[in-house]
Amino acid sequence: MNIVWKAEYCTGIEVIDTQHQHLVLLLNNYFADQPQQEVSPSVAWEMLKEFNGYADDHFATEEHLAQQTHIDETGLWIIHKGSHDYYIKRLKEFQQDLEQHTPRAVDKLMAFLSYWWVTHISGEDQELAKALKDALIA
Ligand SMILES: [Fe+2]
Ligand SMILES: [Fe+2]
Repeated sequence: MNIVWKAEYCTGIEVIDTQHQHLVLLLNNYFADQPQQEVSPSVAWEMLKEFNGYADDHFATEEHLAQQTHIDETGLWIIHKGSHDYYIKRLKEFQQDLEQHTPRAVDKLMAFLSYWWVTHISGEDQELAKALKDALIA
């Protein structure tokens, strides 16, 4: 599986787009390294740590922009933050699953990561970017 970067994923906000492209690159690297077979638990562990760390930085970037443009008290941001919080919560659950050697935990983690990032980047982050840009020119 390979995620192809599409023009519609761009938000027009450079710092966000650069980080999103890096995330897609990371995902593709992990998927490409393990074609058609299950990722080993140690690689899954490394992947989980990397996606936790990078997501923290990325969510902080979006939160900082929301604060700077004073949209951080709007419903849009509250829902957006809820999505980020959901991701963090799910990754903690995956961490427990990996620790407990839950069957198919690695497959589920990889499916979650690719699905969550692609849908978040192409959906909610587009809405967020629009609100950020509207606030900047208002
Ligand atoms: Fe994002
Ligand atoms: Fe986001």
